[in-house]
Amino acid sequence: MKTGKLSAGIAFLLLAVSMQSCGGQTRPENNNGHNLWLGDITVPVNAPMKEKLGKYDSQLGDEGFRIRKNDKGEAVIYANTDAGLMYGTYHLKRLNDCGDLSKLDKEIVEVPAFRYRILNHWDNPNLTVERGYAGKSLWKWEELPGKIRPEYEEYARANASIGINGTVLNNVNADARMLSREYLEKVKVLADIFRPYNLKVYLSLNFAAPKHLAGLKTSDPLDKDVIKWWNDKVAEIYSIIPDFGGFLVKANSEGQSGPQDYGRTHADGANMIADALKPYGGIVMWRAFVYAPESPDRAKQAVEEFKPLDGQFRDNVIIQIKNGPVDFQPREPFSPLFGQMEKTNVMAEMQITQEYLGHSNHMVYLHPMWKECLDSDTYQNGKGSTVAAETLGKVHGNTKYSAIAGVTNIGDSVNWCGHHMAQSNWYAFGRMAWNPDLSSEEIIDEWIKQTFTADKKFVEPVAKMLLESREACVKYEMPMGLHHCFSGAGHYGPGPWDRSSRPDWEPAYYHKAAADGIGFDRTSKTGTDAVSQYHEPLRSLYDNVETCPKELILWFHHLPWDYKMKSGRTLWDELCYTFEEGIKEARGFIRTWESVEKYVDPYRYGQIHDKLVRQAKDAIWWRDALMLYFQTFSGMPIPDDCTKPQHTLDELRSFRLRISNYETPALDKLPVYELDL
Ligand code: GCU
Repeated sequence: MKTGKLSAGIAFLLLAVSMQSCGGQTRPENNNGHNLWLGDITVPVNAPMKEKLGKYDSQLGDEGFRIRKNDKGEAVIYANTDAGLMYGTYHLKRLNDCGDLSKLDKEIVEVPAFRYRILNHWDNPNLTVERGYAGKSLWKWEELPGKIRPEYEEYARANASIGINGTVLNNVNADARMLSREYLEKVKVLADIFRPYNLKVYLSLNFAAPKHLAGLKTSDPLDKDVIKWWNDKVAEIYSIIPDFGGFLVKANSEGQSGPQDYGRTHADGANMIADALKPYGGIVMWRAFVYAPESPDRAKQAVEEFKPLDGQFRDNVIIQIKNGPVDFQPREPFSPLFGQMEKTNVMAEMQITQEYLGHSNHMVYLHPMWKECLDSDTYQNGKGSTVAAETLGKVHGNTKYSAIAGVTNIGDSVNWCGHHMAQSNWYAFGRMAWNPDLSSEEIIDEWIKQTFTADKKFVEPVAKMLLESREACVKYEMPMGLHHCFSGAGHYGPGPWDRSSRPDWEPAYYHKAAADGIGFDRTSKTGTDAVSQYHEPLRSLYDNVETCPKELILWFHHLPWDYKMKSGRTLWDELCYTFEEGIKEARGFIRTWESVEKYVDPYRYGQIHDKLVRQAKDAIWWRDALMLYFQTFSGMPIPDDCTKPQHTLDELRSFRLRISNYETPALDKLPVYELDL
């Protein structure tokens, strides 16, 4: 039997599987979480054998694998490529660590669903990470290319273990310097380390780079000198990094430069870059996160700007769309743009970092939120045109550029993600990109078993708690379709009263609380008609207050405070009781965690416990702030059987959180709350 050439990833694994587990019956020893889900290394029952196929197996493609037992009962991994063998090896390790080796009784065939499975880092050259809550950037630009940190390879290995095959190294609010020769030499070092792990590097570009970097008079995408500059720059990049993946672009959004600065369209801009990349096989991920301050409904703008351009983009352009139409809120309907493009590749951008879900202070397992988006039916081509099918290219039959992106939660903190539990979101993103059909339950079960212990008495309650956590966060932050009630200070905590320089950056633009009621009227008759960007039957479902799901009712409707809900309660009471459920669930997480203490090492146990306590306090803070503020309009009382507010509205309004877009608040810098456990 022929054995395939081993990539560095596999070499690591073979080394790893020969180590003995040091597990015991007593409480586990302290663990700082640095080894992620790869930590508990045990010996597979039958050491894996690997075989690179002589004849290309088209079912497996370039990254898939089969695992089949031979007649001696040994597991053998078959693949066309080194990458496939590596992914197969990690799969086998996962089965082993999760106690699932019996699955080998049948042949396993695994092929990744999305071709491009990409992390987006919002990291800046000065080491800050926009919306990063896990320390500073992992990329120590000032040390590169000379000094190489072990974390670079560890990062690549962790991504390989969950099937992630691309990474955009820098912030979408891009510093033009990233394309300079000096930085490209640094990027090359990372690309060389990542290559054996099948991880390609990509960069975010600054559209005005020809002006800023090369001193050209313009960055107009139709200008011949600009076109030449980009062609030369791309040629230079590929001479340094031959397998460079391509570019991510944020253009004409939040102050970023773009083709519209020169009277050109997004298609003109994207195509110029795409043409430069085409000879090398690179792609452009052009973001649809655009909005102009003058539009009456920000939720409609992506469709308004991009739909008219459908059919004008080159085939190696993919429009990268945030899961919802506004901005990574705890709950949004799916972005209608997923169902509006027919001749253009579209991909989803999920946010792994918890910008709006409690940063790295709150435990929120995000897979249920992403899956809700991917499983949503756009009805573009009739039933079954889900966001997953659209982005896999299945609805229009163009599967070549299927892609998915996740804005990472990774920094240089020892446990990578700030909150030990937030590692589950990095893990879940990779597993979902490989197989969007996996359930939230399956993924969290795998993650817990590999990260902590496979003991059922631990796995079951902890899985239940994590599975409830996203819904709990929606309930205690902004239930029933409320959105963007955040404090402008770092998007942590409530600030429904906050003012800003732009009206569509103010919470009042979104909640529209007033004496006559609350919620954003996006209906066809009296509102902005955003509902009409959805295909039937969704358009009517959302338009009609009777059929609009409770979870999204205030996203699409402005309703009186005493509006009678299906439960029989007034809208006001329903809001109060939904907050109450969120508070109760957050408190319950503490009890669950305390009940499994003996299965966790003291270090991680304590850190997670501290954060869960703060999370439960924040839940009350959210309710207090929103309901006391809304009460100034509704004049209605908080029901007696709800948790009592602990601060007055004035106290909460005068509380000032001073954090930037690059940090999360320290636990002791937040409003004081007593917890009744
Ligand atoms: C949000 C976020 C910004 C980010 C932007 C984007 O608005 O707060 O920090 O730059 O999204 O996705 O481009």
